[in-house]
Amino acid sequence: MSALLLPGVVVVGTRVGLPVLAMATLRLSSSSSSSFFAYQQQKVGLTAAQRPPSSFPSPSPPLVVCSIPDRHHLPSSPSSGEASSGRISLGFCTRQSSGFCTRQQSWNRKLAVVAAAASVVEVGGGGSSSTISREEVVREDDPTNNVPDTVFGKIGLQLHNRENHPLGILKNAIYSYFDETFPGVFHKVDNLLPIVSVKANFDDVLTPPDHVSRSYNDTYYVSADTVLRCHTSAHQAELLRQGLTHFLVTGDVYRRDAIDATHYPVFHQMEGLRLFTQQEWEAAGMDGTALAAQELKKTLEGLARHLFGDVQMRWVDTYFPFTDPSYELEIFFQGKWMEVLGCGVTQQQILCNNGCAGTTAWAFGLGLERLAMVLFDIPDIRLFWSNDSRFTSQFKSGQLGTKFKSFSKYPPCYKDISFWISEEFSENNLCEIVRGIAGDLVEEVVLIDEFTNPKKGKTSHCYRIAYRSMERSLTDEEINALQAEVRQQVESKLKITLR
Ligand code: PHE
Repeated sequence: MSALLLPGVVVVGTRVGLPVLAMATLRLSSSSSSSFFAYQQQKVGLTAAQRPPSSFPSPSPPLVVCSIPDRHHLPSSPSSGEASSGRISLGFCTRQSSGFCTRQQSWNRKLAVVAAAASVVEVGGGGSSSTISREEVVREDDPTNNVPDTVFGKIGLQLHNRENHPLGILKNAIYSYFDETFPGVFHKVDNLLPIVSVKANFDDVLTPPDHVSRSYNDTYYVSADTVLRCHTSAHQAELLRQGLTHFLVTGDVYRRDAIDATHYPVFHQMEGLRLFTQQEWEAAGMDGTALAAQELKKTLEGLARHLFGDVQMRWVDTYFPFTDPSYELEIFFQGKWMEVLGCGVTQQQILCNNGCAGTTAWAFGLGLERLAMVLFDIPDIRLFWSNDSRFTSQFKSGQLGTKFKSFSKYPPCYKDISFWISEEFSENNLCEIVRGIAGDLVEEVVLIDEFTNPKKGKTSHCYRIAYRSMERSLTDEEINALQAEVRQQVESKLKITLR
């Protein structure tokens, strides 16, 4: 991977912050299906310093998914694959692509070499698996890499492939809807490697070069041209190129974000796409875009009814780089309007670029956690990652909507940290540091005070960090040690002045 770092290129400001104004929109993003891309248009474009290294002149070849025949098969659902275990399992699709597995194969070769090293994770499923090393994904001294250990520890867990997990139950309920409505038509893919090229994640779905979703503050970069996918749309182009005309892709997606009960840097999405031929729209007496839009709405309204019953719905116009027109579907549920998914009619350019000229298509993307939290009454997004049997034993395959019964929470412990910020300060970077140190023991980081000293022209922020374990009481000693480390790292890494 280091070959991708161009000699002589000076990496400037790879971890710099966005304007604080933009942070407000980021809070909306993580567990939602579509806000990330939908809201990005409200943000300013990236300055040169904010631009990630994806804008460096390093061409990224298409990522092609293939099976790994020479790798031994390891269990696909490790129970506790945290980073500390040193091994992660990643899912590879077993579909053979058309024989030019360039990039994926070179990953695989490298993986074979590192498999013996201490920090390796296993990635597997669907009949093939591979291993991936910590060093391949977390490289602290590499300025083009911003993946922390805590995030590496989530790769390969594939919660969506656990039958008795709320996310697996929801995925299967959506599959059932498509199987009942379109028997035998939709192809399902749920074990693609979450490490994808910048090209697949952004360029192939027409995300503009200066779109803020490409920022280091929002996306995890493994290297200048490789990211942890921030949406399942990253697989649209490759699956179209493989000739699929109707597909559902489910997977874990990664976004740098704030920390609270509904935001987590890893969550799960399902993407759907369906192509239409000219014959189909002529038979319907409509133009291709109109047919795709009409079918999209009909299909997704049916899906919402399948999941939520007879609810009130509304369509809201929005923006995504990859669809036009673009919509969000909202339902009136438990007394308020809730966004269920983002969708639209696929941009012609995506279809033309990927061997589907002369067709139209609809596509949608939905966040599984967001819907599962509502359907199963799960109050905190971190619970999805819990191995506590008081959580895991409550859900059974096929039982959509079992209401979660909360078990006693251990008390939180609050610690405040105040500092003078610099222009480059970003809340996401602060959260990243806190999460890097405290992992899942951090429940929330909230800005509780902010003021500007007019004489000095300096702004002070005070954040309250809530530490809480889902599984045990934390000791004062432990929290104080975590907080001391947070203070030290915040000071050394964030160019702020502690108060
Ligand atoms: N990829 C979008 C997101 O994550 C969702 C989406 C998918 C919207 C497909 C339109 C079409 O926000």
